[in-house]
Amino acid sequence: MTTLAEWKKGYASEMAAAIISHVFKSPGLYEMVSFTLPTNVASRRVMEKCGFAYEQDFKHAGLDHLLYRITRTRWAQRGGQL
Ligand SMILES: CC(C)(COP(=O)(O)OP(=O)(O)OC[C@H]1O[C@@H](n2cnc3c(N)ncnc32)[C@H](O)[C@@H]1OP(=O)(O)O)[C@@H](O)C(=O)NCCC(=O)NCCS
Repeated sequence: MTTLAEWKKGYASEMAAAIISHVFKSPGLYEMVSFTLPTNVASRRVMEKCGFAYEQDFKHAGLDHLLYRITRTRWAQRGGQL
Protein backbone atom coordinates (compact mmCIF):
# COMPACT_ATOMS: atom_id res chain seq x y z
CA MET A 1 0.00 0.00 0.00
CA THR A 2 1.24 3.48 -0.83
CA THR A 3 0.16 6.84 0.59
CA LEU A 4 -2.25 9.18 -1.17
CA ALA A 5 0.44 11.60 -2.38
CA GLU A 6 2.19 8.71 -4.10
CA TRP A 7 -0.82 7.25 -5.90
CA LYS A 8 -1.08 7.09 -9.69
CA LYS A 9 2.66 7.37 -10.21
CA GLY A 10 3.08 3.74 -11.17
CA TYR A 11 4.70 2.62 -7.92
CA ALA A 12 2.26 -0.21 -7.11
CA SER A 13 2.47 -1.52 -10.67
CA GLU A 14 6.27 -1.40 -10.58
CA MET A 15 6.35 -3.27 -7.26
CA ALA A 16 3.83 -5.84 -8.48
CA ALA A 17 5.78 -6.39 -11.70
CA ALA A 18 8.98 -6.95 -9.71
CA ILE A 19 7.26 -9.49 -7.47
CA ILE A 20 5.75 -11.32 -10.45
CA SER A 21 9.14 -11.45 -12.13
CA HIS A 22 10.77 -12.80 -8.98
CA VAL A 23 8.08 -15.49 -8.61
CA PHE A 24 8.23 -16.69 -12.20
CA LYS A 25 12.02 -16.78 -12.21
CA SER A 26 11.80 -19.12 -9.22
CA PRO A 27 11.82 -22.82 -10.07
CA GLY A 28 8.51 -24.65 -9.88
CA LEU A 29 6.22 -21.61 -9.65
CA TYR A 30 3.81 -21.35 -12.58
CA GLU A 31 0.87 -19.18 -11.61
CA MET A 32 -0.20 -16.44 -9.24
CA VAL A 33 -3.63 -15.21 -8.17
CA SER A 34 -4.70 -11.84 -6.81
CA PHE A 35 -8.04 -10.51 -5.65
CA THR A 36 -9.76 -7.33 -4.61
CA LEU A 37 -13.13 -5.77 -3.97
CA PRO A 38 -15.07 -4.86 -7.14
CA THR A 39 -15.09 -1.23 -6.05
CA ASN A 40 -11.29 -1.04 -5.80
CA VAL A 41 -10.70 0.27 -9.30
CA ALA A 42 -7.06 1.19 -8.69
CA SER A 43 -6.17 -2.32 -7.53
CA ARG A 44 -8.00 -3.85 -10.49
CA ARG A 45 -6.09 -1.56 -12.84
CA VAL A 46 -2.76 -2.51 -11.26
CA MET A 47 -3.54 -6.20 -11.68
CA GLU A 48 -4.60 -5.73 -15.29
CA LYS A 49 -1.52 -3.63 -16.14
CA CYS A 50 0.64 -6.41 -14.73
CA GLY A 51 -1.04 -9.03 -16.89
CA PHE A 52 -3.47 -10.63 -14.47
CA ALA A 53 -6.64 -11.81 -16.20
CA TYR A 54 -10.05 -11.70 -14.54
CA GLU A 55 -11.24 -15.20 -13.70
CA GLN A 56 -14.30 -15.14 -11.49
CA ASP A 57 -16.26 -13.49 -8.72
CA PHE A 58 -16.04 -15.11 -5.31
CA LYS A 59 -16.79 -14.46 -1.65
CA HIS A 60 -14.00 -13.59 0.75
CA ALA A 61 -14.62 -12.54 4.35
CA GLY A 62 -18.31 -12.45 3.47
CA LEU A 63 -17.78 -9.85 0.74
CA ASP A 64 -17.88 -10.04 -3.05
CA HIS A 65 -14.37 -10.14 -4.52
CA LEU A 66 -12.87 -10.48 -7.98
CA LEU A 67 -10.27 -13.16 -8.60
CA TYR A 68 -7.49 -12.60 -11.15
CA ARG A 69 -4.79 -15.00 -12.31
CA ILE A 70 -1.54 -14.83 -14.27
CA THR A 71 0.40 -17.83 -15.53
CA ARG A 72 4.10 -18.01 -16.16
CA THR A 73 3.34 -18.58 -19.85
CA ARG A 74 1.17 -15.47 -20.10
CA TRP A 75 3.79 -13.43 -18.27
CA ALA A 76 6.51 -14.61 -20.68
CA GLN A 77 4.27 -13.90 -23.70
CA ARG A 78 3.87 -10.35 -22.42
CA GLY A 79 7.63 -9.86 -22.41
CA GLY A 80 8.68 -11.25 -19.06
CA GLN A 81 12.27 -12.47 -19.20
CA LEU A 82 13.08 -15.84 -17.65
C1 LIG B 1 -4.26 0.37 -4.94
C2 LIG B 1 -2.96 1.17 -4.81
C3 LIG B 1 -1.93 0.31 -4.06
C4 LIG B 1 -2.44 1.52 -6.22
O1 LIG B 1 -1.19 2.20 -6.06
P1 LIG B 1 -0.60 3.16 -7.17
O2 LIG B 1 0.85 3.33 -6.88
O3 LIG B 1 -1.43 4.40 -7.26
O4 LIG B 1 -0.82 2.30 -8.51
P2 LIG B 1 -0.29 2.62 -9.99
O5 LIG B 1 0.05 4.06 -10.11
O6 LIG B 1 0.78 1.63 -10.31
O7 LIG B 1 -1.54 2.28 -10.91
C5 LIG B 1 -2.84 2.67 -10.54
C6 LIG B 1 -3.72 2.63 -11.76
O8 LIG B 1 -5.08 2.73 -11.35
C7 LIG B 1 -5.65 3.88 -11.95
N1 LIG B 1 -6.62 4.44 -11.02
C8 LIG B 1 -6.39 4.87 -9.78
N2 LIG B 1 -7.55 5.29 -9.22
C9 LIG B 1 -8.51 5.11 -10.15
C10 LIG B 1 -9.92 5.37 -10.20
N3 LIG B 1 -10.56 5.87 -9.14
N4 LIG B 1 -10.59 5.07 -11.34
C11 LIG B 1 -9.95 4.56 -12.40
N5 LIG B 1 -8.61 4.29 -12.42
C12 LIG B 1 -7.92 4.57 -11.30
C13 LIG B 1 -4.48 4.80 -12.22
O9 LIG B 1 -4.81 5.80 -13.18
C14 LIG B 1 -3.46 3.78 -12.71
O10 LIG B 1 -3.74 3.33 -14.01
P3 LIG B 1 -2.99 3.94 -15.32
O11 LIG B 1 -1.52 3.71 -15.13
O12 LIG B 1 -3.57 3.17 -16.46
O13 LIG B 1 -3.32 5.40 -15.37
C15 LIG B 1 -3.22 2.49 -4.08
O14 LIG B 1 -4.22 3.21 -4.78
C16 LIG B 1 -3.64 2.30 -2.64
O15 LIG B 1 -2.79 2.11 -1.75
N6 LIG B 1 -4.96 2.40 -2.37
C17 LIG B 1 -5.52 2.36 -1.01
C18 LIG B 1 -5.42 1.01 -0.37
C19 LIG B 1 -6.02 -0.08 -1.20
O16 LIG B 1 -7.02 0.11 -1.85
N7 LIG B 1 -5.34 -1.22 -1.15
C20 LIG B 1 -5.77 -2.40 -1.85
C21 LIG B 1 -6.72 -3.22 -1.02
S1 LIG B 1 -7.31 -4.63 -1.94
